[in-house]
Amino acid sequence: MGAHLNIRVRPDGLEPIETASVDELRTLQLTRLKQAMAHTYTNVAPYRTRCQKRGVHPDDLRQLEDLPKFPFTTKSDFRDNFPWGLFAVPIDRLNRIHASSGTTGKPVVVGYTTNDLDTWANVAARTVRAAGGRRGDKVHVAYGYGLFTGGLGLHQGAERLGCTVIPMSGGQTEKQVQMIRDLDPDLIAVTPSYLLNIADEMERQCVDTSKLRLRAGILGAEPWTEAMRQEINRRMDIWALDTYGLSEIIGPGVAQECIETQDGLTLWEDHFYPEVIDPETGETLADGQQGELVLTSLTKEALPVMRYRTRDLTCLLPGTARSMRRLRKVLARSDDMLIIRGVNVFPSQLEEQLLMVDGLAPHFQIEVSRAGTMDVMALNVEMKPNEPQARYDQVARELGHRIKAMVGVSVEVKVHQPHQVPRSEGKAVRVIDRRR
Ligand code: DLL
Repeated sequence: MGAHLNIRVRPDGLEPIETASVDELRTLQLTRLKQAMAHTYTNVAPYRTRCQKRGVHPDDLRQLEDLPKFPFTTKSDFRDNFPWGLFAVPIDRLNRIHASSGTTGKPVVVGYTTNDLDTWANVAARTVRAAGGRRGDKVHVAYGYGLFTGGLGLHQGAERLGCTVIPMSGGQTEKQVQMIRDLDPDLIAVTPSYLLNIADEMERQCVDTSKLRLRAGILGAEPWTEAMRQEINRRMDIWALDTYGLSEIIGPGVAQECIETQDGLTLWEDHFYPEVIDPETGETLADGQQGELVLTSLTKEALPVMRYRTRDLTCLLPGTARSMRRLRKVLARSDDMLIIRGVNVFPSQLEEQLLMVDGLAPHFQIEVSRAGTMDVMALNVEMKPNEPQARYDQVARELGHRIKAMVGVSVEVKVHQPHQVPRSEGKAVRVIDRRR
């Protein structure tokens, strides 16, 4: 497939397609979508079978609006065809493998041809650039390296852009801070929860963040709220920018908040075609309506994925900094929703409330258990250092009231001493479910 793209860059560093007209973009998308669908149909037997059962053929794809006629791909398709069943090229053509740890059962294995790695480096470079990265900048990468796509994905993007990469990976928090102090990077790529852990360590080491060069964070791989963004901006004295991606589609490098507008994440639509659907009925929703994001890869060779149901809840917004559409911040996944005595609760709703309570640190973990036939939820939070013991009960009551009033659910708030809530070194584990 002609996925290998000859990227030209304008003097201002943008690729022409980033500012092309919407018509030009749609034309390119249609051409690529037809190729991608034909490639998948020809080479991925499980998807072909599903198309045949539905009575659709790639020739039925005449315009972008025809896409909803085609079947979805879901996470269970990856599981059912583990490890190689969804690949469209012989395995000896793969140059690299990554995997994402599923919460249950087998991980999802993904793979890339040489051309796919090139495409990925380009979209990741575009991502770093949209976050304000420029040739010559130093980029500290604290996403995990290894099977997780975060570390290597942003690493190759920053390198492609001409940055100097500091491949720190996750963990060794004390050393992370030492490296930041010594090497003084311009950008940091890390999960927001781990950045808060790094911020605590900076405080412990009495680092004056206003003296650091760091100007922006490329923060993603997990949901995080606007309140968390304010907290990070303030404590780290940087622009905390959201970055979105997923292994099944490529890894990081799918959508990035542009530093000049900071108004949602520009989706690299020339490579990943978005739809938003009603998660219950599967029907396509209009732009602006909230639902489940569905992505189709337009240029991948090894693992083309048609209409992948991400389970991420968001909506599509018109382009601003680029002609491509934006994603509203992904605050929740449909499968992260807890149902507590009939009330739907997302962890991000609790995060938002806890950040409004004076004296609390921004770390939390939810525990769900069962008392008889009732589900009960406890929220573990911790005080900031040097808060008087007398405040603990008061804070617990205040947060409990807030959650009851704003989210509509009763929760037992457990306020712990500083540093007692488990810290993230990558993706935060927000929910411990003791019901099973
Ligand atoms: O998390 C890829 C990545 C690495 C993205 C580094 C950004 C930075 P997975 O491990 O496959 O891949 O997890 C993908 O993480 O479906 C979302 O539910 C969640 N997610 C990723 N980015 C965001 C974000 C990487 N910015 C899953 N906001 C996705 C909210 C996010 N959720």
